[in-house]
Amino acid sequence: MKEKFYVTTPIYYPSRKLTLGNSYTTIICDAIARFNKKFGKDVFYLTGTDEHGQKISQAAANAGKKEMDYLDEIIADTKNLWNLLGIEYDKFIRTTDDYHEKTAQKVFNELYKRGYIYKGAYKGWYCTPCESFFTESQLVDGKCPDCGREVKFQEEEAYFFKLSEFGDRLIKLYEENPEFLQPQSRVNEMINNFIKPGLNDLCVSRTSVKWGVPVEFDPNHTIYVWIDALSNYISALGAFSDNDENFKKFWPADVHVVGKEIVRFHAIIWPAILMALDLPLPKRVYAHGWILFGGDKLSKSKETGEKECVDPRVLVPLYGSDAIRYFLYREIPFGGDGNYSTALFLNKFNSDLSNNFGNLVSRTFGMMRKYFASVVPAAEEITADDEEFKNNVLAEVKAAYEYMDKIEITKAITAVFNIFTHANTYIQKVEPWAVAKAENGQARLKTIMRYLLESIRIGTSLFEPFAPDCTAKVLTALGLETRGVFENMEDFDGLAQGKELGALDILFPRLDVEAETEKLRKIANPEE
Ligand code: MSP
Repeated sequence: MKEKFYVTTPIYYPSRKLTLGNSYTTIICDAIARFNKKFGKDVFYLTGTDEHGQKISQAAANAGKKEMDYLDEIIADTKNLWNLLGIEYDKFIRTTDDYHEKTAQKVFNELYKRGYIYKGAYKGWYCTPCESFFTESQLVDGKCPDCGREVKFQEEEAYFFKLSEFGDRLIKLYEENPEFLQPQSRVNEMINNFIKPGLNDLCVSRTSVKWGVPVEFDPNHTIYVWIDALSNYISALGAFSDNDENFKKFWPADVHVVGKEIVRFHAIIWPAILMALDLPLPKRVYAHGWILFGGDKLSKSKETGEKECVDPRVLVPLYGSDAIRYFLYREIPFGGDGNYSTALFLNKFNSDLSNNFGNLVSRTFGMMRKYFASVVPAAEEITADDEEFKNNVLAEVKAAYEYMDKIEITKAITAVFNIFTHANTYIQKVEPWAVAKAENGQARLKTIMRYLLESIRIGTSLFEPFAPDCTAKVLTALGLETRGVFENMEDFDGLAQGKELGALDILFPRLDVEAETEKLRKIANPEE
């Protein structure tokens, strides 16, 4: 039986403003899902939307719409965007889906039945227009941090989850499973900032929030959005329902990928809930950093006030989803923060995709046409240079596998691109055009071309989960199956000798950086 692999993104707050920033986690998880499929695993990739809470109802009211009408539109846009970016999820969950609401209620009931939820009173600073409670420390100059208006101290009947009981078990979890929370620095953050100072019981119901899942046994209360939202990871699999095969098969998650600002919910609250329910814990929570635009999360330059174009719906039609995906995998060091700007993106497109990968492929296919009428030759005369090249490539395969296994996205894709760099260096070194002219050069030339093709085959297979469109073209031209499992990755003998290569257009035509920058600047700043 195939090994299973369950990967999730956080479920997104529905947003009209879809940017590279809020596409990042989905793009990351897509590569994780795809390379695990290539490892031969039975993969389940979950994403979706987090649709309850006062803010949503407010936003719908502001748009003059009923909540569900407002949400349906945004969800349709979100799904279109995932499609455009080549995201292949197995399930898209909405927390307004019936089955999810039922499971969220069951989670709540079960925690109550087991004595982990009790009724108490929620006290805090309440902002009436925002219908939100804040703690003393959240206030800004004693006023509401969201709207800046007066707040008043208020009490509300509420249910609480006994989070305070889980501190020791959580520390034990991190100690016994160093893999559980990554990068490692996040563990210290959880322990020092939250657990050591003492965990407070968590307020898990509201009577003032109407747009939410009602507590089944006390319907004046709605379930706190984070309890509702976190249960999506198991409700999507059918937990607590009659149709729970997927839950039995895929739970626990192999990895929850989350942004660094929501680690606390996934590494403290979620495991505590699962412990209270006696359910297995996720194997890993991986926290990624942020894409920064001009040094912060906004997409506006502080100096000039100009906006950066960060809308994938503009960028993908112009440059392809592969290029966008590539930039995020490669340039935002996975686990840390990284910068995005039009200039960085366009230059990376030219240097890596056009010059390195694209050029390698077109040069090699061009030489194959010229020297061998595109018919794949067998390696004949093998020299130390060829051996060295092969060994370099195979060492990168090993590294890429190891990094993929550890979900080190940026390191994995760097290893893949090292293969293309090795191949370009090899071409410069062995000069196939000179060998072609040399007397008795044919045997060597066959080896060189065969080795180049094999390195392209291997590198492209490894690159496929990151950039499905361009790699499909190359693999097809090589006469190989796309989307298959990794095969013949340990040696240079994966191509059928005597087979004719297919035609291939230029993959990434070089961009005129200045002209493209100007084009994007105008799109992002239309008022000028
Ligand atoms: N709804 C919650 C998650 C509930 S999970 C049970 C939420 N939603 S969110 O829409 O605000 O964020 C979804 C994901 O997008 C998070 O992982 C977040 O880190 C990511 N990003 C949104 N903007 C981002 C950047 N600028 N950079 C990188 N990722 C960021 O949190």
